[in-house]
Amino acid sequence: MKVKRAKFLHGEVHLPPDKSISHRAAMLASISEGVSKIENFSQSADCVSTLNCLKQLGVDIEIEGSSIIVRGVGKQSLRAGNGFLDCGNSGTTARLLSGILAGQNFESVLVGDESLSKRPMRRIIEPLEKMGARIESNEGCLPMKIYGRKPLDSISYKMKIASAQVKSCVLLAGLFAEGMTKVFEATTEDGKVIRTRDHTERMLDFFGAKIEKKQDSVSVSGDSILKARDFTVPRDVSAAAFFLVAAFCLDGSDIILRDVGINPTRRAIIDVLQLLGAKIQIEREREECNEPVADLHLVSDSERIDRPIVLKGEVIANLIDEIPIIAVLGTQTESLEVRDASELRVKESDRIALIVENLRRMGAEVEEFEDGFRVARSRLKGSRVRSGADHRIAMAFAIAGLMAEGETIIEDADCVAVSFPRFFETLEQVTVK
Ligand code: S3P
Repeated sequence: MKVKRAKFLHGEVHLPPDKSISHRAAMLASISEGVSKIENFSQSADCVSTLNCLKQLGVDIEIEGSSIIVRGVGKQSLRAGNGFLDCGNSGTTARLLSGILAGQNFESVLVGDESLSKRPMRRIIEPLEKMGARIESNEGCLPMKIYGRKPLDSISYKMKIASAQVKSCVLLAGLFAEGMTKVFEATTEDGKVIRTRDHTERMLDFFGAKIEKKQDSVSVSGDSILKARDFTVPRDVSAAAFFLVAAFCLDGSDIILRDVGINPTRRAIIDVLQLLGAKIQIEREREECNEPVADLHLVSDSERIDRPIVLKGEVIANLIDEIPIIAVLGTQTESLEVRDASELRVKESDRIALIVENLRRMGAEVEEFEDGFRVARSRLKGSRVRSGADHRIAMAFAIAGLMAEGETIIEDADCVAVSFPRFFETLEQVTVK
């Protein structure tokens, strides 16, 4: 995909539905009692992987435009699908679904694409085995065979890595365990609680599960019964991030993003932009499926606050998916350093390596660390960059291309479909050249 320098962004940005919330919505609706209509369900490749796996497990899911209708089978009636459950590129599908599969009295085999097959699964194998499931894997990676057990044992588990996927996996397994299953968030070296995104606990509550939330832990009761719900998925703040950063950096921009999920465990990108002086109005705040939602209006002007930014510690979990676009933002400010983010090395690609490589290709001054990078204000020049088949890298560097002199070519740009199939059309609609 070729991207040329832009003057500014203008207009309403039509964002995709939240991917994280869509995965959870489909999974919880599937094991609830009754029929759920979920409007504005994500059409991303990742969420399609989740729907296909659930269908294979015997759930009837109808797609009606941008909605899905899920005929829940309850907690007792999933059935072994024939063949492999293909999670595609989606870590959320593999890790969350494993929690549900661990509590079944049948065996399942999960597979994924080349990228997902390299991503670490021991982080979920360990707690699920503690709960009584037996799991065979390819040295801690997919393909992975789960020998489920009914019922599982409940556990109290403190996470070693700050991961919402691990937390969610254990909570979902907890629905099939005897007693209360409790998960503690990981802590930083100096003892601060790292609060990972809390969509699973919010949605469990919304579907009527018995849960207990504390500042550093969540518990779920194994005798919870989930009841079908009708609702609309908020739009994805992680998709909004690309447009917010672009509009902030390109003077004269004026964009509006409607119905965006502004969950406090996801919205740190808004705080970072505000630290730099961004004028983001948060309008019509409301709730949708137990999640805070609002319209965001960003008008850029030249009064930016130039200050060095250091992002590290407990904030990283709240902007983990935004770091590729934050790196691009870093080239337009005094300096920006990201630390404590070594998890980025095991995302859809080694994101630290690709951020550094691509920024250098575009002429930026950047230093690489094992757990992050530091970038200084730089004049970007159009160049050929590698997405590494990673959707967020492709989108971040498309935005970099809007700010660079000349033309930027993004290799393997089709991968944007993993989270935002209409990304390039949407960008085109609001870009003024
Ligand atoms: C996700 C959690 C994050 C995030 C991923 C989606 C989720 O992963 O990077 O894109 O939906 O729970 P980790 O929890 O493993 O950091």
